[in-house]
Amino acid sequence: MQNLITVDEKNKVFHLHNKQISYLFSVEQGATLAHLYFGKRIRQYHGQLKYPRLLRGFSGNLADVLGREFSRDTLPEEYSSAGEMDYRTSATVLYQKNGSNSILLRYKSYEIVAGKPKLNGLPHSLVKDEDEAQTLIVTLEDQLTQVEYQLFYTIFRDLPVISRAVKIINSGEEVVHLRKAASMQIDFGNEDFEAITLPGAHANERHLQRSKIDQGIRVYGSHRGASSHQMNPFLALVRPNTDEFAGDAYGFTFVYSGNHMFELEKDQINQIRLNIGINDFNFDWKLEPNEDFQTPEVLMTYSPNGINQMSQTFHQVIFDHIIRSKFKNKVRPILVNNWEATYFDFNEKKLQTIVDQAKDLGIEMFVLDDGWFGHRDADNSSLGDWFVDQRKFPTGLSHFIDYVHNQGLKFGIWFEPEMISYDSELYKKHPDYLMHVPNRIPNPDRHQYVLDLGRKEVRQNIFDQMVKILDPNQIDYIKWDMNRHISDIYKADLTPDEQGEAYHRYILGLYDLLEKLTTRYPNILFEGCSDGGGRFDAGMAYYTPQIWASDNSDAIARLKIQYGTSLVYPQSLMTSHVSVCPNEQNGRVTPLATRGAVAMWGDLGYELDLTKLNDDEKEEVKKQITLYKQIRKLTQFGTLYRLKSPFNSNQTAWEVVSSDKRDVILTVVNILSSAQPSFTKPKLAGLNPEYDYKNIATNEIIGGDELMDTGIYDEVAHQDFVAKMYHFKAVN
Ligand code: GLA
Repeated sequence: MQNLITVDEKNKVFHLHNKQISYLFSVEQGATLAHLYFGKRIRQYHGQLKYPRLLRGFSGNLADVLGREFSRDTLPEEYSSAGEMDYRTSATVLYQKNGSNSILLRYKSYEIVAGKPKLNGLPHSLVKDEDEAQTLIVTLEDQLTQVEYQLFYTIFRDLPVISRAVKIINSGEEVVHLRKAASMQIDFGNEDFEAITLPGAHANERHLQRSKIDQGIRVYGSHRGASSHQMNPFLALVRPNTDEFAGDAYGFTFVYSGNHMFELEKDQINQIRLNIGINDFNFDWKLEPNEDFQTPEVLMTYSPNGINQMSQTFHQVIFDHIIRSKFKNKVRPILVNNWEATYFDFNEKKLQTIVDQAKDLGIEMFVLDDGWFGHRDADNSSLGDWFVDQRKFPTGLSHFIDYVHNQGLKFGIWFEPEMISYDSELYKKHPDYLMHVPNRIPNPDRHQYVLDLGRKEVRQNIFDQMVKILDPNQIDYIKWDMNRHISDIYKADLTPDEQGEAYHRYILGLYDLLEKLTTRYPNILFEGCSDGGGRFDAGMAYYTPQIWASDNSDAIARLKIQYGTSLVYPQSLMTSHVSVCPNEQNGRVTPLATRGAVAMWGDLGYELDLTKLNDDEKEEVKKQITLYKQIRKLTQFGTLYRLKSPFNSNQTAWEVVSSDKRDVILTVVNILSSAQPSFTKPKLAGLNPEYDYKNIATNEIIGGDELMDTGIYDEVAHQDFVAKMYHFKAVN
C-alpha cells in the first residue's frame, strides 16, 4: 500500500501527501499543534518552516512560560481554543461547570489507520477499499478537564482532497458544554487571497460572490436550520489573479445540511484563518462524562490550475465518495412534474391527460407533486397526513400509478416529511410534535410548522405513514421537500440546559429518517428539494443523488444559479426543468429552445401543462427530448468546463467532455442582443489537441488544438436570450 502519511517522530512533523497535494503540520512549543503548509505536493519536507519568533506587544506573549517571543496569538494553528492566549477566533469553546470556557489543547498522541473511519449518524465521504485513503487521527487534550479532541485528517490516494472532522470526548468527571466545535481550522500566513462564496435567496440561489478579505472577522453562514438558499456551505480562497484555468484555488465544502459557519479572519499581521463547522448560534451540546460529540466533515481541496479544476475535484469526490444511491451512475429519466401545470387543482382525470401527452413526447417519468394527500387544496392544510385524498383519486392512488406505468412511464411522488399543518389529523392527535417554545405562539411560515424530527417517535410516525404509501405501490421516485426554515427552536424532550442541541438533533433526526427510507427502498430514486435549492449540499447528496436546484426555472436566471451550483456540485446532482413563459417567478419570456438548452446542463425535466403546448412547441419539445436522450450520458456525467461567466459577461458558455475526450458538447447563451454586437469566439478546453473533431451539425472538421487555441466564431443572434449548442465528436 502506498504511504500517504509520513511522520517525523523526532521533530513531530506530520506530512499528508499524495501525487498532487501536501498538508503539513507539527507539534510546536507548548505542545501546540501548528500548521505548516497546504498546497502543491512537496516531495520530502526538510523541516525548514520554523515559525519566526518575535516579541510583539499585546499579542499574547507567554513570557514566563514559553518565552516572550512565543505567542499563540500569531502562530498558525491546527485547532485553537479559548483560553490559550490566541485572541483570534477559536475553533472550539468548551464551557465548564465552574463557568469558565478556558481550555488549553495540547498534543497528546497520534494514530494512523488505513482507509477512512465512518462518522456514525452523519453523511460522510466513503472509500470502497482501504487502499484508497489513509487517516491520521491526532489527539489533543485539555489536562484539567480531561476532554480530548481527536482531529481526523483523511487524505485520498487519487484526489487532491483531504477530509477533516473532529471528535470530542469527555474523559473527565464533570459535565461540560460544547458551545463551539469547528470541524476544521486552517491558518495561512500573510498571503494574498480573495474569498469566493455562494450567497443567494429563494429562487435566486448560489450566486458567485468574490470578495476582498479585510482585517477583522467575516462569517458566511446559516442559522436557519438548513444549509439554506442564502449561503451555501462552501468557500474558496483564491489569489486575486486566479481565474477558471490558472492560479491557486483552495476549496472547502461542508458535508452537512443544517446550520453552518465559515469564519474567515484576517489578523493583525494579515494572516488568514478559516474555521468551518456547525454554526455556534444557539449551539450548546451537553457532554456527560464518557460521552462524545462527532462533528460533521469538511472536504478541502487545492487546485494550482484555477477554479475550474477545484470544481472538477469537488464533482469527483462528491460523485465517487459521497453519493451512494444505486442510481448515481444511471442516466436520469426525463420527467414531467405537475406542480406548475396544476398547482393544487387536479384530479386523476386531469393528470391522465398530462401523462398521455408526456408519453407522446417521449417523457419517461410523471411526478405527482404537492396536493395528493389529506385534503390539501391549498398550502394551509394536511402536511403530516400522508394518506391519499380520495376526492382527487376516487379509485385510489394505485389505480393512477398503474395508469402511468401502463403508459410506459415511471411514477414519482412528492412528500414533505418534515412538516405539519395545524389543519391535519396528525396535529389533532399529536399537537406536541411540532417544534414550539412553551407558552409562545409558534411562528407560521407558509401556514406550516416544523416537526421535531429529533424525536424518535415523531420520525417513526412519519416513517410508518410513508411506508403505507410506498410498500403497496410501485413508486420509482420521491421528491423530498422542505418548504420553510426552522424557528421556535425548542425540544420538549430536552432539559433547559440541553436546548442548545435542538438544531443539530433535528438534522441528526433528518439523516436517520433518510437513512432508514433510502435503505428500505434502494430502488427508489430520491430527489432532494427545499423550496427549490434551499438545501443543496453534500450532506443531502449522500441520500439523494439529485436535488432540485431552484424554483426559478427561467433560463436566464438559471444561468447564474447553475453556474454557481457547478462550483461545487456535479451536473447529475442538479435537476433543471423547462417551464412556461412568461416565467412564473420573474415574468421573463425566453425562447423554448433556450429553456431546453439551459435545462440540459443538469437532469432535464418539464414543469408545465404539456396539454397546453401548441403543435410547434410540441415538435420543439420532442426534438429536445430526442437530443437529450442522445447526449445525456455525456451532459450528466461528463467533465465540466465553464468557459464564460454570466456574472461578468453578456454570455454564458459551458462545455462537457467525455472521459476519453472524444465527445464534446458546448453550449453558448447570448443574453441581450445588440445592434452592434462584438463577435465572440468561444475557446474550448479539456480536448485532446491531437484529435480532429467533427461538428455534428455541419460536418466541419476542426482540430482539438484549433478548438482550444483559435476558438470558433459564435453565431450572432439578432434576438435576446438565444442559446446555441454545438456537438463535436473525435474522428481520428
Ligand atoms: C416547493 C418546491 C416546488 C413544489 C412546491 C410544492 O416550492 O420547490 O417544486 O414542489 O414546493 O408545494
